[in-house]
Amino acid sequence: MTQTTPNSKTQQRLDPVEMLGERFVAAIAEAFEGKFEPGAIDPLITPSKNPQHGDYQSNAAMPLAKTLGMPPREVAKAIVAKLDLGDLALPMDESSIAGPGFINVRLKPETLADLVSELDRPGLGVKAEEQQTIVVDVCGVNLAKQMHVGHLRSTVIGDAMCRTLEKLGHTVIRQNHVGDWGLPIAMVVAKLQTEAKAGRIDLDQVTLDDLDRLYKVAKQESSADTKGLKAAQRFQLGPKVQAELEAQVAGATEALEHAKQTLVKLQSGDKETVALWQKLYDVTMGACLETCERLQANITEKDSAGESSFRDQLGEIVQILLDKKLAEEDDGALVVRNEGLEPTLVRKSDGGFLYATTDLAAVRKRVQQLGADRVIYCVDARQALHFKQVFATAKKAGFAHKDGATEDSTLEHAPFGMVLGEDGRPFKTRSGENVKLNDLINEAEQRAVVITSEKNPELSGDERQKIAHTVAVAALKYADLSSDRIKDYVFDWDRMLAFEGNTGPYLLYTYVRIRSIFRKAQEQGIAAGYESAALAINEPEEKSLALVLLRYPATVAAVSRTLEPHRMCGYLYELAGTFSRFFEHCPVLKAEGDDTRLSRLRLADLTARVLEDGLDCLGIQTLERM
Ligand code: ARG
Repeated sequence: MTQTTPNSKTQQRLDPVEMLGERFVAAIAEAFEGKFEPGAIDPLITPSKNPQHGDYQSNAAMPLAKTLGMPPREVAKAIVAKLDLGDLALPMDESSIAGPGFINVRLKPETLADLVSELDRPGLGVKAEEQQTIVVDVCGVNLAKQMHVGHLRSTVIGDAMCRTLEKLGHTVIRQNHVGDWGLPIAMVVAKLQTEAKAGRIDLDQVTLDDLDRLYKVAKQESSADTKGLKAAQRFQLGPKVQAELEAQVAGATEALEHAKQTLVKLQSGDKETVALWQKLYDVTMGACLETCERLQANITEKDSAGESSFRDQLGEIVQILLDKKLAEEDDGALVVRNEGLEPTLVRKSDGGFLYATTDLAAVRKRVQQLGADRVIYCVDARQALHFKQVFATAKKAGFAHKDGATEDSTLEHAPFGMVLGEDGRPFKTRSGENVKLNDLINEAEQRAVVITSEKNPELSGDERQKIAHTVAVAALKYADLSSDRIKDYVFDWDRMLAFEGNTGPYLLYTYVRIRSIFRKAQEQGIAAGYESAALAINEPEEKSLALVLLRYPATVAAVSRTLEPHRMCGYLYELAGTFSRFFEHCPVLKAEGDDTRLSRLRLADLTARVLEDGLDCLGIQTLERM
C-alpha cells in the first residue's frame, strides 16, 4: 500500500477551481460593490465540458443577473472587466463570454505546467482536512451465518470510506458491530448443545457451514405454526393434521423455552454455555476475518465490537432514558417517542432488550469513550428508520455529546442499496439461498484465471494465480464501489471482469500499461531524469491529461464529504480514458526530442501514481504486470 501524507502547504495553490474561484469572487464583489458580501458569492467554477470553449468556466453570471435584475451577459461583461487573471490565464475579453453568460477561462500553458509539478509531490496534492476522530461502522456480520453478498457492501464500501478519510489525515476507528447476542444466538447455542450431547456433532470440528445449517434448523424449530393450528381447528382438517400441528407447536414452544433458558445462562456467565457461545464466536469470526483478508479489506480482530460487548450496559441505558423521562411504558414495554418517527422499542414486556438498545450503548461508547467527532454507519438502506430512531434518541439522551464539545458529534447513516440478480430480484443462488461471499470470490478467481490466461499465455502458474486473485478482487470490489451507493445494482460477471469500460480490470490494465512503458524506456536507457523534467504541456491531449490530473485532490475531498466512493471510480475511469487518448496522440518513447519525451514520461508516471493512490483509497491493489 502506498502511504501518502496530506500536504496542506502545496495544495493551497494547486486546485485551479479554488484559485479561479477566489479571483472571480473578488471580481464580482468589485463589479457590484455593496450588492453582495464576498462570503456569500458562489463563483460556480467548473472544468469545461468542451475543451474548445476553454479549460474552466464560471456560471455565476446567470444567478447573479436574476438577483440584480440585469441581463446576464451584461453581468458577465462587468465581471470580466474586473477580473485579474493575468498571471494564470490567457487574456480575456468579450469573446470569453458564451451563450447566456458563461465565462470561459483558458489557463496559460506555463501555469498548467507549474500546477502539475506542484501536484507531483508525495501527497499528490491531497489536502489534510481539519483532523477529526471518525468511527466507521463496517461489516456487521452475524454469528452462525455465512457472510453473504450484502456484507460485500458493508465491508468494501465501509473500508473505502475509512481509507479515504485516513488519507485526509483523520483518525479512523473501524467498528464491526457483530450480531453476536440475543435470543437468536442463544437459539443456536442451545441447538449446538443438543447436537453435541446427542453425538451428532463434534465440537472440535465444527465449521461455519455446520453452524449456518444449525441456525436455520433452530429457527424453524422454534417458530410455531400457531396460525396453521388455528386454521386446522377452524376448518376441521381432521385429527391427524391437528395432532401433527399441535406437536409442532409444542416442539416449538419447547425449543423457544430452551433458547430462553440458554440466554439466561449466557447472561449469568454459566461456564458450559459461555464456552459453546465462544465456539460459535470463534468459528464465525475466524471465517469472517479470513474473508475480509481475501477481499483485501482492512478489517481485523481489533475492530470487532459485537453486540455482546454492550450486554451489561443495556439496563443502565434504559435507566438513563427513564430518568430523563424519554422512555415511557406502552403495554408493558418501554418505548421512546421521537417526533415524526415511529416509537422506538427499547425494552420488551418480558424485560428483554433490543437491537436499538444496543445501538444506543454503541453510540455512547463511540462518542464518549472512543472520542468520535463523527460516526458513520455503512449499513443497508433498509435500516434507515432504525438509525433515525437511534440517532434521535441518542441525541436527546446526551449519548452523542463528547465531553467538553460545544456541539453533538455527527451521526450519519451512509446507506447502500441491494445487490440484484440479472432478473432484477435480490441476488440469490439457483436454489434461492443467499450467495456466500466466499463462493463469490472463488468464482471471480476462476473466471479471472481464464481471462488472464487468454490475455497473457506466458504467465507461470504461480504468477497467474496471484494476478488472477488481484484481478478478481479488483473486479468484485470495483463493481460494488462504482455504482451509486444508494441504488440497487445488478450483479453481472461479464461486465465486472471486462477489460473495457468502467471496471476494476480496465484500471489495473491502464496502470500496467504505464508500468510497461517505463520498463521499455529503462531498457532503452531513455528514461533518466524524467522525475524532475520540465513539463511541457502543449498538445491538446497533454493539456486534457494535466487538467484531469489536477482534479485528484478535489476528488478525494468530495468522497470524504459525500461518502460516495463511486465519485473516485468515475474520476479514475476518466483519468484512464484521458491517458489512453494522450498515449494514442502523443508518442512517448518515440517522442521528438529528449525534453518532450522526458516531460511525457513524467506525465505518464504521475498518472500511474494518481491511479495507484486513487485505487488505494478504494482498497484495490495494483499489479506490475498482468
Ligand atoms: N448485524 C447487523 C445486520 O446484519 C448489521 C449491524 C449494523 N450496525 C449497527 N450498528 N447496527 O443487520
